[in-house]
Order: sequence, then structure tokens, then C-alpha cells
Amino acid sequence: MRSHKKRTAGHYFVTFFLILGLLSSVFSQISIKDKRQLVNSCIDGNNHKREPGPEDSLHQQCSPWKNNSCCTGNTTVHAHGGKMYGFNYNHCPNKKMSNKCLEHFVQDLCFYECSPNVGPWVQMVSSMKMRRERFLGVPLCATDCDDWFKACKDDFTCTDNWTLNFEWINGTNRCRPESECRTFSEIFQNSSNFCERVWDHSWKYTDNSEPCMRIWFDGSQGNPNENVARWKIQQSNSAVSYKVSSVQLLLCIFPALLLSVN
Ligand SMILES: *[C@@H]1O[C@H](CO)[C@@H](O)[C@H](O)[C@H]1NC(C)=O
Ligand SMILES: *[C@@H]1O[C@H](CO)[C@@H](O)[C@H](O)[C@H]1NC(C)=O
Ligand SMILES: *[C@@H]1O[C@H](CO)[C@@H](O)[C@H](O)[C@H]1NC(C)=O
Ligand SMILES: *[C@@H]1O[C@H](CO)[C@@H](O)[C@H](O)[C@H]1NC(C)=O
Repeated sequence: MRSHKKRTAGHYFVTFFLILGLLSSVFSQISIKDKRQLVNSCIDGNNHKREPGPEDSLHQQCSPWKNNSCCTGNTTVHAHGGKMYGFNYNHCPNKKMSNKCLEHFVQDLCFYECSPNVGPWVQMVSSMKMRRERFLGVPLCATDCDDWFKACKDDFTCTDNWTLNFEWINGTNRCRPESECRTFSEIFQNSSNFCERVWDHSWKYTDNSEPCMRIWFDGSQGNPNENVARWKIQQSNSAVSYKVSSVQLLLCIFPALLLSVN
């Protein structure tokens, strides 16, 4: 009688762990599937398409993304207009941004609107009205950042944090009264400070010898940023799957031990 009871309790225990093991493998499959979709996905923003795909009519600087993009032709025309989202690049009175500097901001905007490769760096945001998701810490190749800063170093601005430190009035940004217009060189000092601070850490300055994104590339050679996204996912997958598989191993060994004891 006693031994029968014990066996039943043991069996419940075994069943419990087998179900736990099964559930954990199901969940790890789901998360791997999610990660695969991340390689090719669009941010949930105002202008972004739901899914990336070919777009024949991308405008000028955004055309490298033609084969696979999150932006439409219309969005890319506006991206070249210099006031998308009401953002005023000429926020310092009587200091119009130079064309060579603006060109890099347009390229940055093309990347933001069109890139299907930032999935692994996406974060939810609640504080911004123009988008529900943003990217954080995307590795930007040092040379792309250096060229951008070099083109802008003699232009003027009044803050190093363009995401959060402007005053927004009537749908456009302006310098806070207490701020002072100075050159990019004075405000940011160097290229890495510039790229990392200007959009509040959307970019991370990254040596070209490491996996990093290009905002400037020749689309006819394919999009080099696809591999960077794949690398990032592989990196976080191997960390996750190592944890998952060791938990699964324990969950399988434990019932087996119990069975053998019984
Ligand atoms: C074109 O893009 C602009 C700027 O993003 C947007 O306000 C407008 O609604 C778009 N028009 C169409 C027809 O999609
Ligand atoms: C905002 O726009 C309104 C209407 O065009 C105008 O009367 C007002 O002065 C503007 N406010 C500022 C601070 O520029
Ligand atoms: C820029 O300056 C910061 C300190 O303000 C330093 O940590 C960083 O390494 C510098 N970056 C480059 C590219 O020289
Ligand atoms: C931008 O400004 C906000 C608020 O002042 C601050 O929390 C954030 O750390 C700043 N980001 C950078 C890159 O300085």
C-alpha cells in the first residue's frame, strides 16, 4: 500500500517535469522563430511599411534600399525635403545648415525610414508622438560617422541631444532660450560623441573592423547591413539557446533519475 502511494506521487512529479521540459522547448522554438523574423522587419513608425519589400521608385539618396525596403517612394521624397516631422535643421538663427552636412542627415533619415535590418536593436518608446518604436545602439561604421561629422563640423547647433533638448512649438523645434548656438566641433568635440549623442544613442560608434552598419552603400552590390543584423541575432541566439538547452537537459535528466530511483 505504502509503496504504491509513493510511486503515484513520484509519477506526478515525473509528469510535471516532462511537461515543463516540453513547454520550455516549445517556447524556445517560438523565440527562435521571432528572432528569424527580426532579420527582415520594419519598425512600427508613422511612415514605415508593415513588411519590407521591393520599391521601384525610391528617391535619390534612398535608392540603395530599392530591392528591399521599409519606406515608400513618397516617404523618400519627403526625406529629401529637409523638414520631415517638422524637424528644422536650421534651428540656429541666420545659420543655414550647409548642403554637405544636410546630405548626411538625409542619408541617416533614409536609413531610418528604409532599413529592414534594425530589428535586433528595436526598443519600444512611449514618450515620442511620431513613432512607437526606435532603435538603440545600432553599430555605425566609424568611417560613415567620421565623414558625417567632418561634413558638419563648421555648421551650427545649440544642443548635443536633438531627440530631447529642443523646444517644440507649432509643430517645429527651436533652440531653448537658455541655450547657445555654437559649431558642431564645439558642441560635440569629436565624431563618436556626435553620432552617439545627436539621436540619443540610436547609433553606437563602431570600428570598421567589427560588424557595423553603413548608411552609405552601393545598392547594386546588395545591402551590406543584412549580414550585420544576422550576426547580431546569431550572437544573442547562441547566448539564449545555451541557457535554454542546459535548462532542458536538467529537466530531462531529473525525471529520468526519479524513474530510476523508483
Ligand atoms: C507622403 O508622405 C508624407 C510625409 O511622410 C505624408 O504626410 C503623406 O501622408 C504621404 N502621402 C501619401 C499619399 O501616402
Ligand atoms: C503658433 O502659430 C500661431 C498661428 O499660426 C501663431 O499665432 C503663434 O504666434 C505661433 N506661436 C509661436 C510661439 O510662434
Ligand atoms: C571622443 O571623445 C571622447 C571623450 O569626450 C572619447 O571617449 C572618445 O574616444 C573620442 N572619440 C574619438 C573617435 O576620438
Ligand atoms: C538626452 O537628454 C536627456 C534628457 O535631458 C537625457 O536623459 C539623455 O541621457 C540625453 N542623451 C544623451 C546622449 O546625452
